[in-house]
Amino acid sequence: MGDYPLSARESARGRERRARVEKSEIDKDVCVCVMVVGAPVVPPQDLPSRPRRNRRSPTVRKAFRETILTPDNFIYPIFVHEGDENIPIGSMPGQDRLSFKNGLIKQVREARAAGVNQVVVFPKTPDNLKTACGKEAFNPNGLAQRSISLLKDTFPDLEVYTDVALDPYNTMGHDGMVRSDGVIMNDETVYYLCQQAVSQARAGADVISPSDMMDGRVGAIRQALDDEGFTNVAIMSYTAKYNSAYYGPFRDALASAPRPGSEDWKIPKDKAEYQMDPANYRECLREAALDEAEGADIMMVKPAGAYLDIIRALRDSTTLPISAYQVSGEYSMLKAAAAAGYLNERDAVLESLIAIKRAGADLTLTYYAIDAAKWIQEGN
Ligand code: PBG
Repeated sequence: MGDYPLSARESARGRERRARVEKSEIDKDVCVCVMVVGAPVVPPQDLPSRPRRNRRSPTVRKAFRETILTPDNFIYPIFVHEGDENIPIGSMPGQDRLSFKNGLIKQVREARAAGVNQVVVFPKTPDNLKTACGKEAFNPNGLAQRSISLLKDTFPDLEVYTDVALDPYNTMGHDGMVRSDGVIMNDETVYYLCQQAVSQARAGADVISPSDMMDGRVGAIRQALDDEGFTNVAIMSYTAKYNSAYYGPFRDALASAPRPGSEDWKIPKDKAEYQMDPANYRECLREAALDEAEGADIMMVKPAGAYLDIIRALRDSTTLPISAYQVSGEYSMLKAAAAAGYLNERDAVLESLIAIKRAGADLTLTYYAIDAAKWIQEGN
């Protein structure tokens, strides 16, 4: 130990310690490290706390890890259509519209093999079945209902979530019915959403998930389910669903984007009248208070990655489980950056999912469910 350039700020404790180090016989043989040429020779800083001690080895880092991903928390969103073949979704590389006949069961089997045992089903309704009222939503023989039944018959322990909203079924591409002056009709829509929910429960659904953002729908659906004897069917409410640009690829997948209006039938060009303003924070607490009082079992935040503060707000304001939806646009961004070689896909995806969980999400809906489950199994 040579001469230390003495810092004017060296404390008494530091000076004592330095003296001790200088006096001690350091065994040169066990000191395998070689100093970087040019590194300054300085006394140890006088720090009572050194956080790096808790990051010093893989074992220690694993022991102190606060958030651990498990496929048990994943919900895999799947798209289903009537055709015989799976159809790749252009804006969501790696995701398909699954063939009801030939692709659905195979894909869910793969998810289960990876440890993912929860799915949410989104049907692609043929244009000829779409109407202004979207009544196909509660056709007992509709694609959604048949898909739910097929899944539950094939895998009784699979947890099947559904989507409740009219947008895939309605000619105008809105979650609610649109009056000719462009008004989204709240209470009339809720009336049909209740029928949709009951038809899904009858088909065997475990969890009904209203994504429509109409006022009062959670309470009304709870009542409708209970009246029909479905007291064990749960509700996952899209509590804080924002009017987000990140839903673009999903609307491509289902061809469910709002349609252009006309002189005699005005159609709002976006969903800002019912989905929340991305600028708003306090409003999520208002929605959460209502949904909890109306009987929601799980409350969702959507999208996830850009709304971590909202996930945390809900987590801290309720004892209910919180879910977060890593939506289509979040998936597509990660895919595109990975394909371009800008990001390491595995690391970036697992980091995005850790962040969502760390923010307070118990459950995460993600198109990466199968890949992430496999990555987790392979170990970090
Ligand atoms: C339908 C619904 C949407 C999503 C889930 N349910 C689209 C929308 O609200 O326009 C989006 C999911 C995604 O982007 O992955 N109400």
